[in-house]
Amino acid sequence: MTMPLQVVVTDHGFPNLNIERETLEPIQATVTEFQCKHAEEVIAAARHADAIMTQWAPITAEVIAELQQCRVIVRYGIGTDNVDLEAAAKKGIPVVNVPDYALDEVADHTMTLLLASARKLPQVMKQIQTGAWITNPCRPMFSLAGRTLGLAGFGNIARKVAHRAQAFGMQVSAYDPYVESAQFAAADVSQVDWEALLQESDFVSIHLPLTKDTQHLFNEQAFSLMKPGAYLVNTSRGGVVHTEDLIAALQRGRLAGVGLDVLEQEPIAPDSPLLSMPEVLLTSHCAWYTEDALARLKQLAATEIVRVLSGEQPKHIVNKTGLIQHGHMRRRDL
Ligand SMILES: NC(=O)c1ccc[n+]([C@@H]2O[C@H](COP(=O)([O-])OP(=O)(O)OC[C@H]3O[C@@H](n4cnc5c(N)ncnc54)[C@H](O)[C@@H]3O)[C@@H](O)[C@H]2O)c1
Repeated sequence: MTMPLQVVVTDHGFPNLNIERETLEPIQATVTEFQCKHAEEVIAAARHADAIMTQWAPITAEVIAELQQCRVIVRYGIGTDNVDLEAAAKKGIPVVNVPDYALDEVADHTMTLLLASARKLPQVMKQIQTGAWITNPCRPMFSLAGRTLGLAGFGNIARKVAHRAQAFGMQVSAYDPYVESAQFAAADVSQVDWEALLQESDFVSIHLPLTKDTQHLFNEQAFSLMKPGAYLVNTSRGGVVHTEDLIAALQRGRLAGVGLDVLEQEPIAPDSPLLSMPEVLLTSHCAWYTEDALARLKQLAATEIVRVLSGEQPKHIVNKTGLIQHGHMRRRDL
């Protein structure tokens, strides 16, 4: 008698796994769920799994070394920074993500943070709550139309942000050495280098994966190149920004404000200075979320497992540098 296929969900923040179970039923796979936080817990949960689905749990080299028969690791989401991609590649286990489940959501959320920062919504609300009704509050504010939005990374989400910002009359530029010039031109976006991005943008929005090249890319040196009074928005990964350097840049008034959906440390430490800075707008890594995106994420992730366990190729393999190999036609091969 053959054993049923074992799919292990290492951790998740969903109400249930009904969609996954329904999607995996035709291949008669059992779905076992855990809420692992540490590598040892993942090893105990997933050692004999045929496939792994993971949200935030650490899929480290030690975990991967212990996997006896795993044929695929699927990350619920776009970023794969919780998975040791090199170790997985070495062991021949494909790492697969879901690159297209929430692009509009994250682009909408980016614009929400940008608009709320520029219109100083939290500060105005606070004034009203403390009894002040001022028709030109929290000075100065500036017109968005004609101002420059610089995008760090020009992938799927950044392109959607560009389109939205252009509808507000903004000029858009982007820095991404891995994208062909024709792609910038097609989107009416100026292709700029790293220094120009920082020096010329009134708003900088980050849309980079977290890799060893992008870790702490936004540090003291970068902030000191930014226009005084510029705004920063980050809906990508917290680790791309050096938090202490950011706090220092805000404290000395170098930046007018930031909108952050992601932080180096999540959840935020209760004593983080970011919590008490009026020019800091925080959301809780929820840019991706709508009911629609949630259902798409679960369905698409489980479908990748079905593909691999049925002997087919997955649709979206992430290579060991953290960049997507398949289904991402526009990017130069690295
Ligand atoms: N906050 C959320 O809820 C949420 C949801 C989805 C995705 N994300 C994050 O957003 C990020 C961007 O998503 P996407 O769909 O646009 O990804 P994408 O892969 O389509 O785009 C990322 C772009 O970054 C570029 N890039 C990589 N390394 C670079 C470097 N060193 N310098 C400059 N450019 C570089 C790539 O060439 C690519 O074009 C993801 O990596 C993920 O971490 C966050």
